Amino acid sequence: MFKAPRGTADILPEEQAYWRYIEEKAMSICRQCGYGMISTPAFEDAGLFTRSVGEGTDIVNKEMYIFKDRSDNELALRPEGTASVCRSYLEHGMDNLPQPVKLYYFADIFRYERPQAGRYRQHHQFGCEAIGEASPVLDAEVIHMAITFFKSLGLANFSLQLNSIGCKKCRPAYLERLREYYTPLKDQLCGDCRNRLEKNPLRLLDCKKPTCQVAADESPKSSEYLCEECGLHWESLKRYLTALGIEYILNHRLVRGLDYYTKTVFEIQPFEGGSQSALGGGGRYDDLIDMLGGKPTPAIGFATGLERIVLNLKSQSIEVPHNNKPALFIACMGEEAKTAALKIAADLREAGISVVVSAGERSLKAQLRHANAVGAASAVIIGDDEVKSGTVMLRNMETGEQQEVQPDELKKLSAI
Ligand code: HAM
Repeated sequence: MFKAPRGTADILPEEQAYWRYIEEKAMSICRQCGYGMISTPAFEDAGLFTRSVGEGTDIVNKEMYIFKDRSDNELALRPEGTASVCRSYLEHGMDNLPQPVKLYYFADIFRYERPQAGRYRQHHQFGCEAIGEASPVLDAEVIHMAITFFKSLGLANFSLQLNSIGCKKCRPAYLERLREYYTPLKDQLCGDCRNRLEKNPLRLLDCKKPTCQVAADESPKSSEYLCEECGLHWESLKRYLTALGIEYILNHRLVRGLDYYTKTVFEIQPFEGGSQSALGGGGRYDDLIDMLGGKPTPAIGFATGLERIVLNLKSQSIEVPHNNKPALFIACMGEEAKTAALKIAADLREAGISVVVSAGERSLKAQLRHANAVGAASAVIIGDDEVKSGTVMLRNMETGEQQEVQPDELKKLSAI
């Protein structure tokens, strides 16, 4: 027997209500904030991600699903959504539109991770990107949008973690300072971090190994090494967030797992579960479009994992609307009754009423059990007598009461 690959999951009908609920809230907030929907391919040139997410990141080094197609093109299943949206922005000349261009997406994302609760090899993201504006007003708006989205789902018990990691002007001096700090501590660090010290010292700050975490806690803070421009941006953002009534926690160890970020980075973390279980995250990436061959174009965005949202909705006992129950179930006995059932069902569906028709040769009792199982409010019973008289028997599934009615009357009754 085949099984779904490790780290992937089927989303069964009874789970779908959560997904529709999240998608509707996401689309509604995107409409309110002026974002248009975009869909991009599930795979791209591998180089797009290597260049944007960064060669020194776990996502590129350890987690990317990379393969050659039959024409020897090196492709990768998308390990995130931002690079694809930026590629599309450039490919379709969106830099000629009024800026910022605001885009949102739902995308399946592929990362070869060690599967555990809330961590999968295929997960689904809702993400937003606002491309072409440098002002911290946009940072505040995107963060506000993320928080409002989570609250609109009914979620509570999460915090906003915030940091600024500077830009290509001020970051080199900060990285130098980090190296100075870490070099005497080298022996305490894990093997990966000793490597990071040479290649990508920023990554030292979010190592999950306990000994590395102790060192990271006391490390120099990037927000204290910002150039004038980044410093002003940082102060303005904090002021805007305060004006919007958004509480935040300054977290100097928040650097995010992708290399394209500049200035603002943020994460929404549930109170329980810590940084490994972030509900969402994002930040500014002012150099990315430039790195992909466009003219320098500032941008900011965020994304959230739908599986994590579902886990949090369940753990916070948030009810979502389930509206997948049919209004009517049609039970039928005999060949002619089946034909009548099909015609009545077609008529009712055309009138917008949801109907499940029983097929096969089961007893009336078994068919009514089925009507109960699918949660139909009423059942229509058609047997030989009904076929002869041109009527049907309507049964209230809760009380068991039955009455004979004309098929046309069903439209009225089931609409109630
Ligand atoms: P990310 O933090 O790597 O950012 O992923 C965004 C969200 O996707 C996470 O906060 C988490 O909810 C979810 N997620 C990530 N990995 C997994 C996984 N293995 N299983 C389940 N859920 C997961 C990005 O991908 C950036 N592109 C976000 C962004 C948009 N930055 C700017 N614009």
